[in-house]
Amino acid sequence: MKIGIIGGSGLDNPDILENPSDSEMETPYGAPSSCLRNGVIAGRDVVLIARHGLEHTHTPTRVNYRANIWALKQAGCDCILATTACGSLRRRIARGHLVILDQFIDFTRHRSITFHDEFEPHGAVHTPMAEPFDDSLREVLLRSCAECGVEHHARGTVITIEGPRFSTRAESNMFRQWGADVINMSVAPECILANEIGLPYAAVAMSTDYDCWKTDEPPVTWEEILEVFGGNVEKVTKVLITAIKGLEQGCND
Ligand code: ADE
Repeated sequence: MKIGIIGGSGLDNPDILENPSDSEMETPYGAPSSCLRNGVIAGRDVVLIARHGLEHTHTPTRVNYRANIWALKQAGCDCILATTACGSLRRRIARGHLVILDQFIDFTRHRSITFHDEFEPHGAVHTPMAEPFDDSLREVLLRSCAECGVEHHARGTVITIEGPRFSTRAESNMFRQWGADVINMSVAPECILANEIGLPYAAVAMSTDYDCWKTDEPPVTWEEILEVFGGNVEKVTKVLITAIKGLEQGCND
């Protein structure tokens, strides 16, 4: 069993691996966001990609999601655990809380969101997406959150926006009415592509701010996100490592 990890902003520290070694990979879609860092966590083989690059140079629009997912498949991964920062659209989801996502709304506009740009003759591919996050992986992450004693929410709908700008207040209020619980700029295409390629995928979202719907505090800034990351990175890392320890042979057994 091999586990792919996609580390989001501030959660992409490759130093969490034992026996690390880097490898480059080209894919039919170009290069992944970063080299593939191969190593071991809790006795399990893992491959880590830093979603925004090791120096955080790829904007959410420019992240090569197809290359990242393809590369993890090609590297022999059986499943993907992803981390992401997110804004909270609900009062109950406070800064530093983790959310084990179970649904997404795709509000992106300028991204490649499929491996099937063209169909083979009579070979249409329409991937089911009703339950996009893998339940067995979500269960493992939930158990891990409980074991680590971190405040978390067992489910949540993420809306992924194009970015890199934040939302207007009108958008933020609309997303709340649509039923979104948290907001980010990356999960939707990544999760779609993992499903298309047949890799079970789950994501831990860490809440860093209240976006801008909550008018009793200033709207989100990047500086705020970085600061809240800083205080909570260890928590997410611990949850991830504990989850990897808890994975049985074959990610989704
Ligand atoms: N990532 C973290 N906070 C966010 C927000 N408020 N909007 C979009 N992406 C985010």
